[in-house]
Amino acid sequence: MSETNQEFEPRIVAFVCNWCTYAGADLAGTSRLKYATNVKIVRFPCTGRIDFMLLLKAFEEGADGIIVSGCHPNDCHYTSGNFHARRRWTVFRGLLDFMGIDVRRIHFTWVSAAEGAKWADIVNETVADIRALGPYDEYKSIASNFEKEAAK
Ligand code: FES
Repeated sequence: MSETNQEFEPRIVAFVCNWCTYAGADLAGTSRLKYATNVKIVRFPCTGRIDFMLLLKAFEEGADGIIVSGCHPNDCHYTSGNFHARRRWTVFRGLLDFMGIDVRRIHFTWVSAAEGAKWADIVNETVADIRALGPYDEYKSIASNFEKEAAK
């Protein structure tokens, strides 16, 4: 590792739904809450639309950590998209474990449009957790080894 954790600024990608978490993040901004600026938000209509392969793409592009966040259970604006996302995450998590990917780098959560302060807390906690883990330099070698094994 070339940088110490003190100097390391984690790159976090957040995949969020438009109706709850994105609005909550917007509320955090309009409320002028101070929180870490390490997060790049990618907005989806609903967490049910999030293809979990995008998480691997984010790591491939250099993310050190990921947040997936949407409406609370029973609050999804498309009825059950968040339940689909949660089920998909459970399966995907097993696959990531199998591949050797550190699932501690992915935070799955719910944030409503009224929870700007919760969003700020989640971002700060995620940044602190990922900072403690350090840069995710080993992702590329894990992915490369997995591709070689899959090609056999
Ligand atoms: Fe937010 Fe479905 S609309 S999770």
